[in-house]
Amino acid sequence: MSREITIAPSILSADFARLGEEVVAIDQAGADWIHLDVMDGHFVPNISFGPAVIKALRKHTKKLFDSHLMIAPADQYLAGFADAGCDVITVHAEAGPHLDRSLQAIKALGKKAGVSLNPSTPLSEHVLDRIDLILIMTVNPGFGGQSFIPAMLSKISQARSMIGNRLIDIEVDGGVTADNATLISKAGANVLVAGSVVFKNNDVSAYAGNINAIRKACSHV
Ligand code: DX5
Ligand code: ZN
Repeated sequence: MSREITIAPSILSADFARLGEEVVAIDQAGADWIHLDVMDGHFVPNISFGPAVIKALRKHTKKLFDSHLMIAPADQYLAGFADAGCDVITVHAEAGPHLDRSLQAIKALGKKAGVSLNPSTPLSEHVLDRIDLILIMTVNPGFGGQSFIPAMLSKISQARSMIGNRLIDIEVDGGVTADNATLISKAGANVLVAGSVVFKNNDVSAYAGNINAIRKACSHV
């Protein structure tokens, strides 16, 4: 089977003082998507950035903006993220009682809808039926630079078999490295997020090599 692999660097590990330049650098280094980790200090124990920053970055690249909203509640902010230029808007299944309403709102805004699952949240057929992307968290959300939770590999395989022929992206986020990318892609993921290993030391000259190392590790699929 041949499957296209998408590498989505997370700018959470970029140099925030030079964010526009970092986005240009990662675009030129071969990023397929730009992963945007939005944190509210409430759903997760960290605060990152919101729609105003994303809107400012939108001018610097044409690459797909993949937003990962770690915020609760999310609904009242969805239009703001759409206006800011997000192409994919992913909400957490655990962020509120009315996930389906959030997904309908994202689709009504004309954007691709994603659902993210914390490590302890099981997959559900009802969710898969409504989305363009499932984001499987392979660390507990909130921080970059954590270690991949190996038990999540079977969840990725389970998602791949439940999805069957449907055009739903399986995105894996947290602790992705060139060393575990082979197993992750073999399990069935087709979008790999990577923050700390891509932006390591904020050494712009290494970004292309860092992205390519992950891509190469997936070359068997
Ligand atoms: C964690 C974020 C991830 C994270 C990935 O809450 O959703 O996107 O920044 O960073 P690394 O690749 O360093 O685990
Ligand atoms: Zn993320």
